[in-house]
Amino acid sequence: MNDHTTIDGVNYGPLAALIGVWKGDKGVDRAPEPNAEERNPYYETITFEAAGDVDNAEEQVLAVVRYHQVVSRKSNDEVFHDQVGYWLWDSADDTIVETFTIPRAVAVVAGGKLGQPESLAQELVFEVSAETGSLEFGIVQAPFMFNKAKTTAFSHRLTVKGDEMRYTETTVLDIYEKKAYDHTDVNTLTRQE
Ligand code: HEM
Repeated sequence: MNDHTTIDGVNYGPLAALIGVWKGDKGVDRAPEPNAEERNPYYETITFEAAGDVDNAEEQVLAVVRYHQVVSRKSNDEVFHDQVGYWLWDSADDTIVETFTIPRAVAVVAGGKLGQPESLAQELVFEVSAETGSLEFGIVQAPFMFNKAKTTAFSHRLTVKGDEMRYTETTVLDIYEKKAYDHTDVNTLTRQE
């Protein structure tokens, strides 16, 4: 990684490509309803900030980028999803981790390996996943959610090429009478600053 991945003495490696304020208005959400499902066109702002690094057990060094995602339904301009979290990178083995929480009492620690840049395209690929029940990359949720609207798995693929970001994510839910329902979100964003 070259020099502009280093900010205030911290090497953010691939995470440097995330830093900035991103906006996108091509979002599509697929979400469950009791006897059907809904599809919601949306727009959003995701703000990623450099947040330094941490040492774990005096051995592991993780670069840290903090983010806040605010998502609005196009039909009524209401914020209908809010998410705060971190992306972490371990330069020793190119492990990447996304940790986040949503205000439904659900928290996720998802992990993966940094994807290889697609050669000449220089597109960075961040791909992470988690499963409920895993003691490592997992999902925890409050009792109501565990019993009524359980998240059983989460996967997220985010790519960055210059000032364009794309993502797809799938949150697998057991809710109502549905088992393993794929609640999906996809959008393309552009860096504003
Ligand atoms: C762009 C991202 C997302 C959007 C726009 C979104 C939107 C929605 C919508 C519209 C519903 C249907 C119920 C309602 O209207 O409140 C829903 C349900 C749900 N979402 Fe998401 N969601 C997103 C991401 C996530 C993520 C990342 C998770 C967890 C890892 C999650 C967990 C849930 C759960 C557990 C429910 C079921 C709760 C219920 O319907 O009562 N969502 N979401």
